[in-house]
Amino acid sequence: MRSIKNTAISGKKVLIRVDVNVPMDEHQNITDDTRIRAVLPTLKYALDHNAVLIIAAHLDRPKGNVPELCLAPVAKRLARLLEKNVIMAPGCVGPDVEKIVSNMNTGDVLLLENLRFHPEEQKNDDGFAEKLAKLCDIYVNDAFAVCHRSNASVVAITKYAPLSVAGFLLQKELNYFKKAMADPKRPLVAIIGGSKVSSKLEALENMLKHVDKFIIGGAMANTFLKSKGYNMGKSKIEETLIDVAGSIIKKATENGIKFYLPVDAKVASQFNSKAEVKIVPIQEIPSEWMALDIGPATSLLYSEALQDAKTIIWNGPMGVFEMDAFSRGTIDMVNSVAESYAMTIVGGGDTDVAVHEAGKSDMITYISRSLANLF
Ligand code: 3PG
Ligand code: MG
Repeated sequence: MRSIKNTAISGKKVLIRVDVNVPMDEHQNITDDTRIRAVLPTLKYALDHNAVLIIAAHLDRPKGNVPELCLAPVAKRLARLLEKNVIMAPGCVGPDVEKIVSNMNTGDVLLLENLRFHPEEQKNDDGFAEKLAKLCDIYVNDAFAVCHRSNASVVAITKYAPLSVAGFLLQKELNYFKKAMADPKRPLVAIIGGSKVSSKLEALENMLKHVDKFIIGGAMANTFLKSKGYNMGKSKIEETLIDVAGSIIKKATENGIKFYLPVDAKVASQFNSKAEVKIVPIQEIPSEWMALDIGPATSLLYSEALQDAKTIIWNGPMGVFEMDAFSRGTIDMVNSVAESYAMTIVGGGDTDVAVHEAGKSDMITYISRSLANLF
């Protein structure tokens, strides 16, 4: 993989795809800028080496052009961190943007508007990728956290950019994981949470070859529990994946992998932070209620299951942790992982944010920008 470091970028228009999919509050204030700070080495390197810097990124999953998901707050934060003016583009492709780029000098910084305002981005559309590529002489991928998505600015663009190279964050993440996954200290425990089995199916299946234990949380646990015959009430279930979930458990068991599922849950009468809540064993979920977090017995069980771990990889929250009422399971897991004696690699989705919010970043061996695409 060619690096930006071995590439002559002076005087060149360098388009760097980053992942600055940061959390924001309802007033579009950035609540955690870890992902922006993580790409500063590559951005600063480009500036120090006299490139014309064009930054491309996405925010969230907008359907069309959603003003609340403009990247202007990111431009502001970048300007502060780079101590430079950052021009906010009115779009990400097209004549207006091309005109701005043609007037840029070395050392100038332009942030393109949210790539996902164009549905073509997530369709890996060739025409859109070609328009993006047209803006640059060199394309740099430093967006590790979105590399598992077949998006135009990640995949198709490499067909059209004159030269495609890797940024420092991408290289760091890949090197780290090559080392950690090739010969991990065992037991190797994978903690997998988040909302969907579907988005982690490939990762789960790949991990069947590597891990000694699986610990499952988040809404995806519902589908696994359903496959075991539990009544999950109104919990979010991926109906079409119940059988697949069951076969993953079966394969894991056949491979001698210990497979952990929640034994209790925090359930709510509605999907709402003000809803009535209670803690029940998995066997007792009322038919009109939904599981939104793992319960305290599960937290304890999971913490015991981590006791002998030598390597832990964790991706995805244990519940709807953005709502205080359902964040406890994830916070408990942060503490268990942070206090373990294992080498710990955490990241992906919002897991890095959860660790940061809990103030435990220093106690994790490595916080990855994403884990989803690694196993
Ligand atoms: C993330 O935050 O998970 C990455 O930026 C990718 O975004 P996505 O999950 O919406 O594709
Ligand atoms: Mg994601």
